[in-house]
Amino acid sequence: MALPLGFASAVVISSREAAEEVLKTNDLETCSRPKVMAARKLSYNLKDITFAHYSDSWRENRKVSMVELLNFKKLQSFKFIREEEMDFVVKKISNSALEQSLVAVDLSQIFMCLVANILCRSALGQNLHTNKFFDEKKIAKLVVQGSLATCHFGFSDFFPGKLENFADWLFQRKKGQLKRTFKELDDFYQHVIDDHLKSLDGPKSTDPSADIVTGMLDLVDKNGTTDMDQVKGVLMNIFLGGIDTIAIILIWAMTELIRNPRVMKKAQEEIRAVLGGKREKITEEDLEKVEYLKLIVKETLRLHPSVPSIPRESMSQLTIQGYDIPAKTWMYINVWAIGRDPKIWENPEDFIPERFINSAFNFKGQNFEFLPFGSGRRACPAVSMASTTLELCLLNMLYFFDWNLPNGMVGEDIDMGDVGNISFYKKEPLLLVPVKHH
Ligand code: HEM
Repeated sequence: MALPLGFASAVVISSREAAEEVLKTNDLETCSRPKVMAARKLSYNLKDITFAHYSDSWRENRKVSMVELLNFKKLQSFKFIREEEMDFVVKKISNSALEQSLVAVDLSQIFMCLVANILCRSALGQNLHTNKFFDEKKIAKLVVQGSLATCHFGFSDFFPGKLENFADWLFQRKKGQLKRTFKELDDFYQHVIDDHLKSLDGPKSTDPSADIVTGMLDLVDKNGTTDMDQVKGVLMNIFLGGIDTIAIILIWAMTELIRNPRVMKKAQEEIRAVLGGKREKITEEDLEKVEYLKLIVKETLRLHPSVPSIPRESMSQLTIQGYDIPAKTWMYINVWAIGRDPKIWENPEDFIPERFINSAFNFKGQNFEFLPFGSGRRACPAVSMASTTLELCLLNMLYFFDWNLPNGMVGEDIDMGDVGNISFYKKEPLLLVPVKHH
């Protein structure tokens, strides 16, 4: 589908075959992103990974993120953080279940705070439980605000040039909001950087304990610049791209489970049978034993991908499915529609994790009917971190608690509406009543 948008033109790619032609056959020609005004602002003029041009600095930034945060060794070294934070959440929900039985907890808020705690500790060296300036709720709110702002289109994106000044005047309020969000985010990144610079004798990027901020500071130092925009751009990608994307899937997974008691029961029976009763703590080693849970994660990513439409921009003229696509066309891969295509999926709207039994589908972007993490050069670099965190959290939720809807609600009463610009949230918070299993 072609969409002329003022002076910009966009195409939406909604079939498996066309997605493969874009992301595999033409990977190199389509590995740029649309440069909309809000993304430009929040990425410090494209000095980040996610919105950057396909360039040497994109390659450098992506490499540092892999070395300091996302490779297997680093993932293992932050295992204790994920487990500790999970333990903390289980205790919090347990207390709530014991003190106020039959009172609902806000799982949307709990999951946002959980992932914010995990990522801020492992990636940014910030413990939000003890931080004097930022607490978990403030951070969770800032993430939502920033994420909603990121891919917001402005009038000037469609009508650049002289009309831009007129648009600036007309949409001052929107721009003002973006400026305020940017300032709040910038203060946070600056705080993180200052914190790292304070400890001049602290870890170097070669130390096993170094985090991505240390790695990025070393990189800008090596490149002989004191411009911190590149560091802040990458912090933005982790902060806005890493927290809500994981939390969104957790919220949808629990929503689907409560709407589908058959699946919830089957998952809990499997988990409790293989882990045994009365365990105090779950570890990541336990993830090896719970196959059905992994299918639940896949099915949730199929039905509710956090990034339902992947933005790309063509770098040269190309042909997709026989259609000519000029250079600089915005391309949106409609992962959401492909994940619900009745030509590919039987009963596509139903939540049936069993559909993935014996399927070779993985998250590596080789199956173009299932692209929750994208594909090719610009695919999500955090697949392992994301899938481990998702599985660990759901395992804890299903092992330690039984779940009910509040106030006599039934599954059909749940509002399934969503809201977003690039990542899409469940619009209404998910409120469920926990009952401690043992
Ligand atoms: C369930 C969780 C997540 C989902 C569903 C997800 C999904 C995606 C998708 C669809 C893309 C675009 C891929 C493409 O263009 O082909 C992407 C890119 C990216 N993601 Fe994720 N993501 C998740 C978690 C994370 C986390 C935890 C981080 C960081 C800690 C992260 C960092 C990034 C970065 C930096 C990019 C840009 C890559 C580039 O342009 O080179 N993501 N993600």
